[in-house]
Amino acid sequence: MKNICVLVSGGGTNLQALIDAEKSGVIKNGKITCVISSKEGVYALERAKQNGIPTRVMPRKDYADVATYTKAVTDALLEEKADLIVYAGFMTILDEQIVKAFPYKMINIHPALIPSFCGKGYYGLHVHEAVLQRGVKISGATVHFVTEVCDGGPIILQGTVPVLDDDTPEVLQKRIMENVEWKLLPQAVSLFCEDKIELVGERTYIKK
Ligand code: GRF
Repeated sequence: MKNICVLVSGGGTNLQALIDAEKSGVIKNGKITCVISSKEGVYALERAKQNGIPTRVMPRKDYADVATYTKAVTDALLEEKADLIVYAGFMTILDEQIVKAFPYKMINIHPALIPSFCGKGYYGLHVHEAVLQRGVKISGATVHFVTEVCDGGPIILQGTVPVLDDDTPEVLQKRIMENVEWKLLPQAVSLFCEDKIELVGERTYIKK
């Protein structure tokens, strides 16, 4: 059974999807053993507590710089004996120390079809604003391994939704969350925990 640690900073709807998936047996061979938040008082922490999951609050503002903060988070994850780290709406940048400590053991969900609309500055509603401004007809979400390159690690799963003429960023965000993110992230977590993700160079293959 793999220890799953989830990093959050906000409402935690993706965390909730993972909790529900663990309960219903969608996630095989994995258990959420810790939730770490970069912000105090966020609802994601409440969701963890309601489900008896241990939490740690590590406010970014309590640390002098990115390096010190990354070291503290990495140490916490080592203490927790994390086998898999899931970035579920974690809004804080960490440096390469954590990638070295957990190579190809960290996954992120990004609310667009990578390699479009990703990288620095593409977070939250900014992603969906850019999608609407460019006028693409489909969008979606991507689960990928976390590497040193922001949103640049090997892609594990992608899912799509249509972009509709009267969409606002908020409406599109909701469609992507409900139809893609909350399904794709638990699926990817389960595949990882079952050792079904094969990495060959920059590509991943799902073992049957
Ligand atoms: C999601 O849109 C996710 O794709 C992005 O941040 C958002 C987190 O939302 N990385 P929540 O905290 O899981 O509700």
